[in-house]
Amino acid sequence: MAFNGPSTLAVHGGEERWKPENSLTTPIFQTATYPFRNMGERLAYNTGEISRITYGRYGNPTQLAAEAKLAALEKGEAALLFASGMAAITTSLLTFLSRGDHALFVDQCYWQTRTFALSFLPRLGIEAELIPRWSPGEVERRVRGNTRVIFAEVPTNPHLYIPDLEELVAAGRACGAVVIVDSTMATPVNLRPLEFGVDLVVHSATKYLGGHNDLLAGAVVGAGERVAAIKETQAYLGGIPDPHGAYLLLRGIKTLALRVERQNETALAVARFLEGHPKIRRVWYPGLESHPHHEVARRYLTGFGGVVSFELAASAAETGRFIDALHIPYLASSFGGVESLVEQSAFTSFCAFSPEERRALGISDSLVRLSVGVEDPDDLIADLERALAEALP
Ligand SMILES: Cc1ncc(COP(=O)(O)O)c(C=O)c1O
Repeated sequence: MAFNGPSTLAVHGGEERWKPENSLTTPIFQTATYPFRNMGERLAYNTGEISRITYGRYGNPTQLAAEAKLAALEKGEAALLFASGMAAITTSLLTFLSRGDHALFVDQCYWQTRTFALSFLPRLGIEAELIPRWSPGEVERRVRGNTRVIFAEVPTNPHLYIPDLEELVAAGRACGAVVIVDSTMATPVNLRPLEFGVDLVVHSATKYLGGHNDLLAGAVVGAGERVAAIKETQAYLGGIPDPHGAYLLLRGIKTLALRVERQNETALAVARFLEGHPKIRRVWYPGLESHPHHEVARRYLTGFGGVVSFELAASAAETGRFIDALHIPYLASSFGGVESLVEQSAFTSFCAFSPEERRALGISDSLVRLSVGVEDPDDLIADLERALAEALP
């Protein structure tokens, strides 16, 4: 039966209707290897007469079920899971980049992606260039004959800028580069980059896809041939998910649409509250008319996401006091789970950057990133209001 809605896809997409022993849920296949009955079966496998799983590093049935579900949600041909988002990103980049190549990265990408691009890729003779702060025409001006990858995050973190997907795709087509979008922040509920011509979507499945702050995983989704090439690299590098993590992810994804729809609504309510508060200097949320990319966001996103960034009209120490006064959000790295999380970006995600680098990226000492969970919006807003009053009387 065909179905298309994000919640139906999240629950049923990609999974076999009938599973081993009539189990309703896909079991955890906790095994390292998959024996052959006899040499005849092995030889039939070798000649391609039969296809089956042979060894854990090349796939696991629980993992394959989670991959099929993700491919269904992103409307891609194939998906591949990894041990972490960074494993998905680095393995994909290393598949398409070789010595002498050039790659473009939107500058506000996850700091470890950025560091990998600027510090690690040059060791392999690959030149990585940042596209500073997104503005129209920027990517087209910077592509070269040897540009093989264009990498962006949509939305970016923490300012939630929305690089223009159609511009990225046009630039990629012009130079034959693979266009990769890290869509962790958007999730397939709010954005499906493949529908706009992007070649590959990567995720830190640790965030919204898993959704419960209890697993680390990554994923890439795209055309079968490209994903197969990445799988070959994964077989060398070994950043595979474990069966139990794959099960937790499969389970987490089933409530993805419910959670994200709730988080979209709560984040918009929180953003509106903060925008009207006298102790808040500025709010970044793509659902607000005041966000510089609100119009682009409306073009690409069906929901504006669960992260709100804001700057307090306060010093670094006062901002720290505000965070300490919160009762609901935990002070923790990561985002996208059922528990709200908060960070003072300059001293957490961006603490490895120099003050000058932070300034160039617009990360002030009073910038706060809030990832809303699935708590009741009124409770969250009351907590923010109380903490602001306590920290900034
Ligand atoms: C946008 C984005 N991409 C990738 C990653 C890396 O994912 P992981 O921590 O699962 O390796 C993160 C981690 O915070 C992220 O925020």
